[in-house]
Amino acid sequence: MGLFVSRKLKVLLFVGSCMVMLTWISVYSTMRVPKLQEFTQRLQSLEHFTTYEREKESKTMKRTSLIVPALQHVVQRSTNETQQLCPYLSPYLQGVQQLSFSSMLTLEDIQKENPNVLLGRYQPLECHALQKVAILIPFRNREKHLVYLLKHLHPFLQRQQVHYGIYVINQAGNAIFNRAKLLNIGYIEALKDYNWDCFIFHDVDLVPENDFNLYLCDNQPKHLVVARNSTGYRLRYKGYFGGVTALTKQQFSSVNGFPNNYWGWGGEDDDLRKRVELQKMKVVRPPIEIARYTMIFHNRDSGNEENAQR
Ligand SMILES: *[C@@H]1O[C@H](CO)[C@@H](O)[C@H](O)[C@H]1NC(C)=O
Ligand SMILES: *[C@@H]1O[C@H](CO)[C@@H](O)[C@H](O)[C@H]1NC(C)=O
Repeated sequence: MGLFVSRKLKVLLFVGSCMVMLTWISVYSTMRVPKLQEFTQRLQSLEHFTTYEREKESKTMKRTSLIVPALQHVVQRSTNETQQLCPYLSPYLQGVQQLSFSSMLTLEDIQKENPNVLLGRYQPLECHALQKVAILIPFRNREKHLVYLLKHLHPFLQRQQVHYGIYVINQAGNAIFNRAKLLNIGYIEALKDYNWDCFIFHDVDLVPENDFNLYLCDNQPKHLVVARNSTGYRLRYKGYFGGVTALTKQQFSSVNGFPNNYWGWGGEDDDLRKRVELQKMKVVRPPIEIARYTMIFHNRDSGNEENAQR
């Protein structure tokens, strides 16, 4: 099966983007959803995690020669050592968003609305982002969904002061969809492109509703879809680890990525959770009041039938 990023999707890469910063954490078992207040208190425990990441980074900053001229100013910004770290909670956060899904919207509109996104990437001007975050979106034949998602995701991530890049990984042809394999490919390809610290594995049909749901990694693998409108704003099931998850480079490589052999809908997310648990890590989740998503309505596509073996 040929998997590749088509020319059209390369354009999307430019549009897509977002990365880094703010971390936040809540160390919880998969059974418990933390309360908002506890959650905020726990932000502090993140401090050394992000500081540590930053120290490592400053040792490896000599990479300018790999950067195309158009990105030069971005790189200079990121190597400005005198710059302050961004705060965990950006001053631009607004909370609950009014989502709109206009069928007239195009990728060109989104590009115009996000002039600071370059080659699919953005980083805050006013501070040094806490993490470098790659957002990986497995994709096939869902142009409308992608437009809706990017429409909201770009401003969402910029309000969070995230240093980010968005990658759309397209599966060519009509063979059965393989989300897991696409995400493994996205991980490898994104790392060839840039030295990302944190990976967000993101379904194309889930739009975050509240910008306090930070797109940053924690010191444990993080599951972000605690509530979604399609399941009455409850966790789909105990142990659910699908939709949108955030793992550091280290966490993802220690579980050896997703399994490559899940074809069709479902199963690979549970497998990833088991891999996480086997490595003695624990899934953490932001509070249910914050980690809310709207699932854009669709019928199951042909080629993505439920995986009977899952
Ligand atoms: C580095 O950041 C500081 C603080 O934001 C700013 O005042 C200074 O002009 C920046 N230097 C460069 C070379 O961009
Ligand atoms: C969730 O919200 C989206 C967008 O408003 C809508 O299309 C979809 O039907 C909703 N799903 C449910 C189950 O309410």
